Amino acid sequence: MTPRRPLPSVPGMTQVPQLRDGEVLLRAHAEADLDAVWEQCQDPEMQRFTTIPVPYARDQAAGFLDRVRAGWADDSTASWAIEVAGRFAGTVDLRFGEGWASVGYGLHPWARGRGVMTTAVGLALDWAFTERGVAGVRWEALVGNEPSRRVAKKCGFTMEGTARGMSVARGVRYDAWLGSLLAEEWRARAPSAG
Ligand SMILES: CC(C)(COP(=O)(O)OP(=O)(O)OC[C@H]1O[C@@H](n2cnc3c(N)ncnc32)[C@H](O)[C@@H]1OP(=O)(O)O)[C@@H](O)C(=O)NCCC(=O)NCCS
Repeated sequence: MTPRRPLPSVPGMTQVPQLRDGEVLLRAHAEADLDAVWEQCQDPEMQRFTTIPVPYARDQAAGFLDRVRAGWADDSTASWAIEVAGRFAGTVDLRFGEGWASVGYGLHPWARGRGVMTTAVGLALDWAFTERGVAGVRWEALVGNEPSRRVAKKCGFTMEGTARGMSVARGVRYDAWLGSLLAEEWRARAPSAG
């Protein structure tokens, strides 16, 4: 297993790794992202397909940025701001546990529909497999989230099926699609990695 490299300390998240593929940059979140995070969370698709609070107030965006910092600090979650052309475009994160990670993502509506999330998830996966040495990554979405499933499939996830009633959002239970991607599958797709 790949040895784990040191992860960043807080405050400031200055050591959050920056990852780039073309126009898509993954970087640490900043206080300056707060308005865009709030704006993104007003979007009906975000409210339908993620577990964010509804209504979503500015305080919640501030709390989100605090949790992002805490996730890096306690090594439980790696979250990046996605930036395209100098503009905040969304978030991708990896939650770690038992040698695996679980991926989550959301994009501001202005940046959707042109492959940005597929590129961003690819960067995060590459980091998870090569730098963190995870054995696999899990993807989960509420049933019906076709754009999310499409992103996962384009990144190489195998669809495992539907887990009935597995997801809970705002107190309501939903069926969930599940997918997984193993380290060896990722290496076979990207032979330069690891
Ligand atoms: C899911 C999400 C991140 C996708 O981001 P994106 O940058 O637009 O994704 P991409 O452009 O890389 O790919 C989207 C794919 O979904 C497809 N798609 C979009 N709407 C679709 C629909 N209603 N049905 C089927 N496919 C759809 C697009 O055509 C594209 O596939 P293609 O490249 O083969 O044409 C974005 O829609 C989002 O933020 N949604 C709200 C939050 C969310 O659902 N997060 C995921 C929770 S699991």
